[in-house]
Amino acid sequence: MEHILTVTGLNTCYGRSHILFDVGFDVPRGETVCLMGRNGVGKTTTFRSLMGLTPPKSGRIALKGRQCAGLPSYRMARAGLGFVPEDRRIFGPFTVLENLEFGVIPGRQGIWNLDTVLAQFPILKNFTNRNGSTLSGGEQQMLTIARALMGNPEVLILDEPTEGLSPVIVGELKDLVIRLKEAGTTILLAEQHLKFAMAVADRVVLLDKGHVVHRADIATFREEKEIQRKYLAV
Ligand SMILES: Nc1ncnc2c1ncn2[C@@H]1O[C@H](COP(=O)(O)OP(=O)(O)OP(=O)(O)O)[C@@H](O)[C@H]1O
Ligand SMILES: [Mg+2]
Repeated sequence: MEHILTVTGLNTCYGRSHILFDVGFDVPRGETVCLMGRNGVGKTTTFRSLMGLTPPKSGRIALKGRQCAGLPSYRMARAGLGFVPEDRRIFGPFTVLENLEFGVIPGRQGIWNLDTVLAQFPILKNFTNRNGSTLSGGEQQMLTIARALMGNPEVLILDEPTEGLSPVIVGELKDLVIRLKEAGTTILLAEQHLKFAMAVADRVVLLDKGHVVHRADIATFREEKEIQRKYLAV
C-alpha cells in the first residue's frame, strides 16, 4: 500500500500551550482517512500544522516521500495539500467562476479542470456567474471544495465539512465525497458527524487531548461501540 502522506511525531503549540503531542498517521493513496474526536481535541490544529499555518515545533510530514514540514502554506499547497478550512471562506464579491479560477495552482496538473469539476457539482453549474456572497451555506461549502479541487491536490483536506449544514445538504455532500473517491481522490477529513464519517471513511484516527488514542479501519471501528462512546459525542 502506498502512503501518499505520512505524518510522524507532530508537536504543535499555540504560544505556551502545547496542543498536539506526537501526532502521527498515514494516508494511503485513494483512501479517505477521518480524524475524529470531540471539540477542542486538535483536529484543526493538526490540519494547520500540515499546512504550515501553525508550524509544528517538531515532527515529520512526508508527501509522496518528500519531507515538507516547515514549508510555508503556499508551498504546501503547491506540493499538493488542498485545504478546505472549517470557516469555508469564499470570495464573496467574485462570481462562482472566478472563485473556481482562484483555485488553479500553476504547475499542478491532473484530472481536475473547470469542466470536470463542474460535472461533479451540478449545484454550482447553473449559476457560475452569480456572486459567491449570494450562495447558501451549503452551496458555499460545495464551492470551497470545488475550488480546492481546481488545484489538483494530492490530498484533499476537509475540516468538518458537514458543520452547520442541513441533513439534505449533508446527504449531497456524502454523495459528492463518494463520487470523488470513485474518481481516485485521496481525502483527509475531520468530522464529528459519526454517520457521515462511517459512510465515507476507509480509516479513522481518533484524537483525544492532542494525542492519537486509536486507529482503525472502518469495518473494525463500526463495531467498536465502547471506543465510540468514550471518545466521541455519541
Ligand atoms: N489560536 C489559538 N490560540 C490558542 N489556543 C488555541 C488556538 N486555536 C485553538 N486553540 C486550542 O487548541 C486546542 C485544539 O483546538 P482545535 O481547534 O485544533 O480543536 P478541534 O478538534 O478542531 O475542535 P473543533 O471540533 O471544535 O473544531 C483547543 O484547546 C483550543 O482551545
Ligand atoms: Mg476544528
